[in-house]
Amino acid sequence: MVRKDRQQAKNGSPYLSIELRDRTGSIPARIFRDVDVIGSRFDRGDAVEVRGRVERFRGSLSAEVTALRRIEPGAFDPAEFLPSAYRSTDELNGFLEHLSREVYDPALRAVVERVLDTEPVASEFRRAPCTRGGHHAYLGGLLEHTVAVGTLVGEVCQLHPKLDSDLLMAAALLHDVGKVAIPKDLINKPGPLSDQEWTAVRTHTVEGQRMLEKIGGLMSEIGRVVRSCHERFDGGGYPDGLAAGAIPVESRIIFACDAFNAMTTDRPYRSAVSIEAAIVELEDNAGTQFDPEVVEVLIAQVRDRYGIAA
Ligand SMILES: [Fe+2]
Repeated sequence: MVRKDRQQAKNGSPYLSIELRDRTGSIPARIFRDVDVIGSRFDRGDAVEVRGRVERFRGSLSAEVTALRRIEPGAFDPAEFLPSAYRSTDELNGFLEHLSREVYDPALRAVVERVLDTEPVASEFRRAPCTRGGHHAYLGGLLEHTVAVGTLVGEVCQLHPKLDSDLLMAAALLHDVGKVAIPKDLINKPGPLSDQEWTAVRTHTVEGQRMLEKIGGLMSEIGRVVRSCHERFDGGGYPDGLAAGAIPVESRIIFACDAFNAMTTDRPYRSAVSIEAAIVELEDNAGTQFDPEVVEVLIAQVRDRYGIAA
């Protein structure tokens, strides 16, 4: 259920105008009988089971719902309701494997692969959306986003030979791993998130660090980078409000690549911005949100990749 509005018919009687969505698409629907009783049973964002009749109205399909039941989170498979990633999981897995081979230190690569291949990360990470209301809102979205960020980071690395490319790639591949620790009903919630819910989603960087810290060794170092992947250059980010050079350089790079990938991808409530517009956005936020040096390198790389003149 992605929309729920109580409206009034011309004759003054109330009805509910709703929109139902599953992985195949969406359909507008109305409820005319027992409006307040049925309406009190569910909210926008709930999974519901409905009975009713579908008819063609002014050339498009619309449903009249006569019975409706809310389904408890956990009692259904989100795969039935969310659209899937544009690429198949197999294909994305191939990309992920390819990127993890760009971590050249064999010991580090082995741990990265182990983290990605151990449950619950192995299956959940590959199925999850980033968040349902934000970017990469479909199943497999988190994997797709991770592959995209890893690819961008790999390219940025080449322009910046002084960086520790192994550390950077390993952290890029694991930067959102903490999302598997966020309650699934939040990550899968179809409607917009409340402030409180966003606060919970934002703990994914700290959760990610906690997971990596448990492994210890090289992963503690990666965990430090993962923790700071949403710190802003001006100190306004989270979780620690670190600024400028206090933020690990790898985190600053991942943050900018992550934002670029998020901007250039469709969301449920907003379509993707063009590459050119995303470049302007990065430039406008250089020095506040993003590290200006990182922005410069990233933009050079993006222009090169898409053949956009400076
Ligand atoms: Fe991310």
